[in-house]
Amino acid sequence: MSKTPSARYHPLQVSFHWLVVVLLFAAFILGKYMSGLPNDAAKIAPIGIHMILGFVTLFVMIARFVARLRLPKPASATTGNVFFDQIGKIVHYALYAFVFLMVMSGMALSLQSGLTSIVFGGSGASLPADFFAFTSRMLHGFIAPALLLLVVLHVGAALYHQFLLKDNLLARMWYGK
Ligand code: HEM
Repeated sequence: MSKTPSARYHPLQVSFHWLVVVLLFAAFILGKYMSGLPNDAAKIAPIGIHMILGFVTLFVMIARFVARLRLPKPASATTGNVFFDQIGKIVHYALYAFVFLMVMSGMALSLQSGLTSIVFGGSGASLPADFFAFTSRMLHGFIAPALLLLVVLHVGAALYHQFLLKDNLLARMWYGK
């Protein structure tokens, strides 16, 4: 596959990008909602949906990363400031890393607390009294706002390009000729 810079991202990469936005948003909102619920039987279904959303997000992120290496992509966007351009690159890699950490800490929590058999195996066992008894729950709770901060930086940078630098950067992450 050619690696010549193109004017915009490949339609597959565009689809992956916006799919990750929807999945992350859904997993985040559901996670926040769940953390306010008592750990009774009614919480098993939302936890199951949250776990599936997390796994699908990981799968799409891996597919995205592979596609990023193999498909032609536009040259890195520039702000005209070397420091900001470097930050931009770091934030992009950090977004991949933090989504990965989010899912890994969720999986660790699931293993530590035996969630898989309760949620998907129909074991009939009750949920643990408090997820915060597990270190992985603390990690999951710390990584979530860090990921949110990265997303805010990422969106802020996109808006800065679009509306202050007026370079129409968003068009690269959409479909078209
Ligand atoms: C993209 C991936 C994920 C995101 C964005 C995400 C987000 C969140 C958020 C925001 C919370 C609430 C944190 C807090 O208020 O401190 C949470 C809680 C939780 N997440 Fe995730 N999560 C993801 C993946 C996973 C995965 C893969 C699993 C399990 C395999 C999982 C299991 C849980 C559990 C059990 C809770 C605890 C709910 C409670 O305390 O009652 N998460 N998640």
